[in-house]
Amino acid sequence: MNKVVAFLCCASTAWASEAPTDGSALKRLVHQDCGSCHGLTLKGGLGPDIRPEALQHYDAQTLSLVIMDGVEGTAMPAWRPLLTTSEIDWMVDYLLTGGE
Ligand code: HEC
Repeated sequence: MNKVVAFLCCASTAWASEAPTDGSALKRLVHQDCGSCHGLTLKGGLGPDIRPEALQHYDAQTLSLVIMDGVEGTAMPAWRPLLTTSEIDWMVDYLLTGGE
């Protein structure tokens, strides 16, 4: 019985790795967590501007590596331990297109 309760509790979070990619939760994460350094509108703060116009020199693969591994020697953290590959793929697409 306890097992069932535990399963129900955790299966509903966006962070469960089996959960389908939840766009609105990720969008919030981008603006709040990434935004704490890159600005709430992503136009730059401690970290640089990461709006679509500013990221056009990246292809999707390079951009996902920057997010997964961070930028060594800077405040940009590695997100690999926190996000699944499909969440990062979603985020890369969102960052490059602005969600359009
Ligand atoms: C603790 C602060 C911090 C957080 C949180 C953070 N970043 Fe960064 N980020 C930086 C800094 C500082 C740099 C600049 C690194 C450098 O000097 O090359 C950077 C660089 C980047 C770059 C490279 C930009 C370019 O033009 O080369 C991308 C892309 C990026 N961050 C995306 C993200 C995303 C997406 C998130 C959230 C998942 C995030 N960052 C969260 C601080 C942060």
